Amino acid sequence: MIETAVIGVGGFGKNHARVLNELEALSVVCDIDGSRARAYGRKYHVPYVTAVEDLRKFDIEAATIVTPTFTHYEVALKLLEMGVRYILVEKPFTATLKEAYELIRKAEEYGAKLMVGFIERFNQAIEVVEKIINDGEIGKPILYYFTRVSRWPERIQDVGVLRDTAIHDIDLSNYLIDEYPEEVYATMGKLQHHKHEDFVNILMKYPEDRTVIIEANWLTPKKTRKMRVTCTDGVVEANLLTQEITIIKRDELSSPNLDWQEPLLKELLYFLNCAERGIEPKPGGREAVMALEIAELVVKSSREGKTVVINK
Ligand SMILES: NC(=O)c1ccc[n+]([C@@H]2O[C@H](COP(=O)([O-])OP(=O)(O)OC[C@H]3O[C@@H](n4cnc5c(N)ncnc54)[C@H](O)[C@@H]3O)[C@@H](O)[C@H]2O)c1
Repeated sequence: MIETAVIGVGGFGKNHARVLNELEALSVVCDIDGSRARAYGRKYHVPYVTAVEDLRKFDIEAATIVTPTFTHYEVALKLLEMGVRYILVEKPFTATLKEAYELIRKAEEYGAKLMVGFIERFNQAIEVVEKIINDGEIGKPILYYFTRVSRWPERIQDVGVLRDTAIHDIDLSNYLIDEYPEEVYATMGKLQHHKHEDFVNILMKYPEDRTVIIEANWLTPKKTRKMRVTCTDGVVEANLLTQEITIIKRDELSSPNLDWQEPLLKELLYFLNCAERGIEPKPGGREAVMALEIAELVVKSSREGKTVVINK
């Protein structure tokens, strides 16, 4: 297996460590919080370090960056400099677009491959929806409606709901439609939190009259992650948490029987497989930049209170 380090074993990074351990690929954990680093090093019987620079002592081929977003760029640069060939950078990739462009340039310079943690692409529910649409079972898609709402996740301090949460659905829209939007309109703001926006509502027009609506907030008590695709001959609904699917065709309603699969396991297995075979992982830097560019247009539209038209 590929020798892999997990950097940041906090709220989400501990899941990376667990899954990589299950896949027998976990070589070392790193966290600036010494007690966390030690706890997960001990738990999985691997060495631990408290500074990225100390990973030099290990012959790691791959790493996953699960530190707060504002640190991703700096951590990734250090890994590139020490010769790590495959780096999975958690979403939203970097804190700014400038850093994203620069990181991609640096990775090319070092001959390394980057992947971005848009985990929903590995959600079985999305794979099933994609197949139903591509098979033409319910006709041509007209509207993609995403709902991603919850209470405020206290541990996220460095970005707002747009880059932390709605970014998943921006990426899913780009992925499922496989185009760049032509127009973006959004409302966004802070209702209960001081530093960052806690709600965003996005409406995007894609070529061939396909519309995307994304509703994301940190205000709603019940955690919901759902999507609904309305097509010319039916509707498909997916619960991204439970992976339940409902297909509605005229008077007929059906639900395929699916056993829940862990998206992170599929994502990390794919990442390791790319590293083993020396291939370019997807979603990579290009997909990350596309989502971050759209996030900037969302901010622009909400600030100006008008639709942003994109000339690509
Ligand atoms: N793909 C997903 O669905 C998903 C889900 C949750 C979080 N995330 C992403 O994962 C990242 C981490 O989120 P989290 O909720 O786990 O945050 P967290 O604050 O719970 O954990 C971050 C950890 O990184 C450590 N850390 C901070 N700076 C470091 C550095 N320079 N070097 C080493 N360790 C460092 C902290 O001590 C902490 O243990 C964020 O970018 C977030 O967007 C992705």
